[in-house]
Amino acid sequence: MTRRPTPTFAEAPSTSRARVAASILDADLGNLAHAVGRAEREGADRIHLDVMDGHFVPNLTFGAKTIKALRRRTRLPFDAHLMISNPAAFIDEFLDAGCDSVTIHVEIKEDIEPTLRAIRAAGRAAGLCVKPRTPLSALAPYQRLLDIVMVMTVEPGFGGQTFMADVARAKLLQAREYLSHKLHGSEIHVDGGVNRESAELVGSLGVDILVVGSALWFKGRDMAREIRLVRALADEGYQYGLNNGVPPIPRDKMVTFASLPRPGARTLRAEIEGAGIPVLLFRSPADPADMDDEVRRWDLLLPASAEAAAKERFGRRRAALARTTARPA
Ligand code: DX5
Ligand code: ZN
Repeated sequence: MTRRPTPTFAEAPSTSRARVAASILDADLGNLAHAVGRAEREGADRIHLDVMDGHFVPNLTFGAKTIKALRRRTRLPFDAHLMISNPAAFIDEFLDAGCDSVTIHVEIKEDIEPTLRAIRAAGRAAGLCVKPRTPLSALAPYQRLLDIVMVMTVEPGFGGQTFMADVARAKLLQAREYLSHKLHGSEIHVDGGVNRESAELVGSLGVDILVVGSALWFKGRDMAREIRLVRALADEGYQYGLNNGVPPIPRDKMVTFASLPRPGARTLRAEIEGAGIPVLLFRSPADPADMDDEVRRWDLLLPASAEAAAKERFGRRRAALARTTARPA
């Protein structure tokens, strides 16, 4: 049987809600450059990098230098998962290596807050991870510094372990509460034992990022198909478990939130962006193409996933600006 060519990431970006982060822990560690290139070609959305220090977990992997060397081998975002006791001493190196997000463990003994602040100051996403037996309430003191909550559904340290469904049920949906301060762009990651067997359940619990390790690297496995299956099953779970049978919004979908003359549009854009929601401003096609820019209406577009939050927070403001900046009839 001939294998069909797999579309590259650039040609076929996924439009699903759920995203797959490929963990390279179980790839050929002698050829990680090939592994990240392959994960990209086969359609992974991200690369998940498991850093272990032999102290926080009973295993050793690689560090910031390896990540830096891999950085130029793929365009995919890098999520670093630091299973180390003292991330503060190394955080600058991981940021310099080009990690797009860095997640550390809440169980470590050192001060957590400065490390989270350093990650955010560098413009990257900051995350905290909880081991299976750590309650989510351990995150409470750091809540406002979090972009990511990562829930471990195996004991950290090794790939290929069995998924803990009871931990997923107890924590995944509830984890969202710890990200309620962020109107847009917060993420729940699930890490450990995620594959086609568990994807539907974690999708039904609202997970955004599914970390998939060993399931991708079995010899002879069609990795592209595995990634598509996991994503599709997670979306199915979301649709039937959380969304009343309605398919989830594709992650890149934008919607028109307001149509206003330029001064009002600019004011509203600044206010919405101030709340962390990205906004695009376009000349509205509802007005003639040759109409003066100062007079015509401008459309504010924002991610569909942030629409409800924007309506709640800025709905009245939108109406007020529409009244005050309306053109005379
Ligand atoms: C385990 C790591 C995981 C691991 C997942 O400590 O954090 O990222 O690679 O591997 P699987 O998917 O095989 O459980
Ligand atoms: Zn991990």
